[in-house]
Amino acid sequence: MAPAATPIARAPAGSGGDASNKVFQDRRKPAEIRSSNMIAAKAVADAIRTSLGPRGMDKMIQDGKGEVTITNDGATILKQMNVLHPAAKMLVELSKAQDTEAGDGTTSVVVLAGAILEAAEKLLQKGIHPTQIAEGFRSAGLACQEIVRKELATPLDINDIPMVQKCASTSLNSKVVSQQSSLLAPIAQEAVFRVIDPENDTNVDLKDIKVSTVLGGTVEDTELMEGLLLRQRVCAGPKKIEKAKIGLIQFCISPPKTDMDMNIIINDYTQMDRVLKEERNYILNIVKKIKASGCNVLLIQKSILRDALNDLSQHFLDKLKILTIRDVEREDVEFVCKSLGCRPIASLDHFTAENLATAELVEEFSASGTKLVKINGSSNQGRTVSILVRGSNKLVLHEAERSLHDALCVVRCLVKERGVIAGGGAPEIELSVRLFQKALELTGVDAYCYKAFAEALEVIPMTLAENAGMPAINTVTQLRKLHADGNKSAGLNIKKGAIANIMDDNVVQPSLVTISAINLATEFVAAILKIDDIVNTVR
Ligand SMILES: Nc1ncnc2c1ncn2[C@@H]1O[C@H](COP(=O)(O)OP(=O)(O)OP(=O)(O)O)[C@@H](O)[C@H]1O
Ligand SMILES: [Mg+2]
Repeated sequence: MAPAATPIARAPAGSGGDASNKVFQDRRKPAEIRSSNMIAAKAVADAIRTSLGPRGMDKMIQDGKGEVTITNDGATILKQMNVLHPAAKMLVELSKAQDTEAGDGTTSVVVLAGAILEAAEKLLQKGIHPTQIAEGFRSAGLACQEIVRKELATPLDINDIPMVQKCASTSLNSKVVSQQSSLLAPIAQEAVFRVIDPENDTNVDLKDIKVSTVLGGTVEDTELMEGLLLRQRVCAGPKKIEKAKIGLIQFCISPPKTDMDMNIIINDYTQMDRVLKEERNYILNIVKKIKASGCNVLLIQKSILRDALNDLSQHFLDKLKILTIRDVEREDVEFVCKSLGCRPIASLDHFTAENLATAELVEEFSASGTKLVKINGSSNQGRTVSILVRGSNKLVLHEAERSLHDALCVVRCLVKERGVIAGGGAPEIELSVRLFQKALELTGVDAYCYKAFAEALEVIPMTLAENAGMPAINTVTQLRKLHADGNKSAGLNIKKGAIANIMDDNVVQPSLVTISAINLATEFVAAILKIDDIVNTVR
């Protein structure tokens, strides 16, 4: 979409009305630029507001090629939107940043940024200098962080598996696959716990968790695989091998190509025979050497220069009963090596027994007609897991994959920062009430900023209620009252459609998601406020 790119002619801040009280007199152009930036960013934030929360709507996105995506994930929606305005692009980057930092909360961060921008606009109209607003908001953001960390977050014992699963389940609540959250949440938790040492690790490398998708079946059939799963099928040799010795090669078993373009002119049959014999010997030599090392399972990295295997080598491998899998993706090589505890073999000279990995069983299996290979019981298995996601159609399948990614990220957040807070708008309302109280103790511009920031935070419960068809103003004011009376965990239970003690209802989320969202949204608004010109360079 193309948000209003033309600067709206807005009266410069400080003009009109009781100008005599105004402290800050803005020049016309910076005010216009700022206003245009804000309008563009707010337009984008409004566009995805409706997808927040369990009753939020999903978006159907069609790209230039006619490919359709259905998603509820804020980062995915924004990534696919074709925004033109530079400020709107910043918002896309903002949700990407949240995706990298926390993985979840990518819609919340944008909605929050939109609300804080609106608050900033009101303050600008009062004649407060943009830098002062930015500073005030930063300070309010820091105060929020501190309150969440020190007072709202309940410390989490990482071995409290049900709690970790509840957090993963909350993040799945709002997705298309929410019905399957009871299956996907434990899978996400288990997957992360298998690749880390829960007691000591403070981060999770999600590259150690390989999520593969297979069309067919339903999301219910999604499973956490034992051992290593390969997307490829067996192209030569037996389909099943016990006590496997596995070699992963990065060279090809096909006739070499010359570096230069050249022609060989053959003018009689004997010469032709010699060429064929040479080729046969060359390939036979490679295959024999592979067999001699004791290898009975061969994985071949995908080659872009020539065929990794040709008919002849396939035939020989078949004869020698070497289970062969070709076209292992280049980016998967690291994962495969880590899983099997081996190193890739780059040349035939290094193809020796000690460079092979061992496994109890390698076999091909079929999932809804798609052939895959699994390798079990590797003696040197590294800490990796494979998840096989299933879905009846492409749209659901990919959304299930994205949702699972969110759930994995939520578990990662808990490993990074071990604290949980209530969901359902409870932390935002609590922070808002606290900031209002703090604002009363402050004087000067900061007091205004705190108040405006506090009001902006209410956008999350307000939007959750709106999207669920609850009376938004009534609900938010009621929540505000409950929190002022000391009910820290009062929030919206969207499934019940009522206000409840949200901790008791098991709607919990990692504190890091909320902290990161507030932090990034504040930074974004501060950055927008400081821009007073857009310069286009002409190429
Ligand atoms: N059962 C529930 N009742 C009330 N609120 C809920 C419930 N489940 C989730 N929420 C709230 O919904 C919000 C999250 O919504 P959603 O997952 O759509 O957006 P997001 O996490 O910000 O972005 P995304 O998941 O797209 O990255 C959180 O504020 C969470 O507390
Ligand atoms: Mg979410």
